[in-house]
Amino acid sequence: QATSIPADRVPDMGKRQLMNLLLLGAISLPTAGMLVPYASFFAPPGQEVLEVVKWLRMPSGMITLTQGLKGDPTYLVVENDRTLATYGINAVCTHLGCVVPWNTAENKFICPCHGSQYNNQGRVVRGPAPLSLALAHADVDDGKVVFVPWVETDFRTGDAPWWA
Ligand code: FES
Repeated sequence: QATSIPADRVPDMGKRQLMNLLLLGAISLPTAGMLVPYASFFAPPGQEVLEVVKWLRMPSGMITLTQGLKGDPTYLVVENDRTLATYGINAVCTHLGCVVPWNTAENKFICPCHGSQYNNQGRVVRGPAPLSLALAHADVDDGKVVFVPWVETDFRTGDAPWWA
């Protein structure tokens, strides 16, 4: 008997390939999402001053990576009342210095290098990271965000700031 594929099987083959493609897309989507913070990290330098309106158009709870003091990648946070949080969160992991992406589904920062986790204010909740993410003041001046060094008590822990 010949082993050629009957003509009525051909559409099924096409369907299966389509399913494979869809599956591949479903797998790569979350990965693509994780890359977004890195993409904005490599945005042109010199953006320590940022337009406030741009951030406040974002949904509340939105956490966006931008460039902070000394060029450190720093997250800006839009609060539930659509105001900008008065602090920025330094994205450099306190373990070995990887840039920590925000994970919306988990509502945490999760370091891809060794799995340290930080809550939505950057307080460390799982090691090996020994310390919380550093803070900077995110002041609004004439419609722009200006980062200022944070030298006061860390409001998340009640301790002196380890980074100052
Ligand atoms: Fe982040 Fe090691 S550098 S957990």
